[in-house]
Amino acid sequence: MYLADVERWLDLLYIAADGAGLRNEDRRKAQEVAAMIEEIARAATRCSRRSPLVLVDGAAGKSYVGLLAAKLVFEPAGRAATVITIERDPGRVALSRRAVERLQTTIPIECRAADVTEATAWPASPSIVTALHACGPAADAIIEQAIAIRARELLLVPCCTSRAVAAATRAEERAERFGIPRHAPVRRRFIQAMVDAERTWRLEAAGYETEVVELVGATVTPHNLLWRARLVGEPTRMAAAQQAAEAFSRN
Ligand SMILES: C[S@@+](CC[C@H](N)C(=O)[O-])C[C@H]1O[C@@H](n2cnc3c(N)ncnc32)[C@H](O)[C@@H]1O
Repeated sequence: MYLADVERWLDLLYIAADGAGLRNEDRRKAQEVAAMIEEIARAATRCSRRSPLVLVDGAAGKSYVGLLAAKLVFEPAGRAATVITIERDPGRVALSRRAVERLQTTIPIECRAADVTEATAWPASPSIVTALHACGPAADAIIEQAIAIRARELLLVPCCTSRAVAAATRAEERAERFGIPRHAPVRRRFIQAMVDAERTWRLEAAGYETEVVELVGATVTPHNLLWRARLVGEPTRMAAAQQAAEAFSRN
């Protein structure tokens, strides 16, 4: 539904300005961004209209998601909203700020140059935290911060899983213990499943009703799983998830 608009804005904000046009990889990125924008539009309808929406785009890169959510979702819906993007690379933050000027939106957008592990970079109780392709430990830091600040909705698409991901190191130890063969595709899938399971239980134990779905097809990106987590804080479900998480970590 948003794809044509996303392609047009990516071109206007980031590409045409350099005298180029959309390449195949830009069109694939546009599919991911459009799917995220659709998720944000749905999440926004679940958020109360009594107070302004606060959307945080973590590990934002050039902030495609945050900026286009403002332009294509909040502004047309007349929703009172603020967008905060968090990115540690100063060059990408500068490109984001330049794109904000070109976007000319009525929605306030602040591009913060910070590491997602810094608690001071995050607002209190945001409505929606989104992160598209948060790499390695950044995905875990975003989960930690979203839980700590009681984000109402989390839309997280993790990217690559490196050795810097703590759950991956634990999964390597288990792989040895369980006799998982060293053949790379077999090992990699085992480790990824362990990391994914640990992230899911962590969110559930913190009170988030969590779904894991494919954001886009695997031909668009191999890192295509979306954690769609909504804070419900239901005590029985949390207790059961905590028990399951503990049992999982003992095995
Ligand atoms: C794969 S890119 C994705 C960018 C953007 N979300 C997108 O989908 O186009 C990951 C981004 O996360 C940023 N990043 C990685 N770790 C980070 C951290 N700990 N704090 C803030 N930004 C981080 C990187 O600099 C990079 O711009």
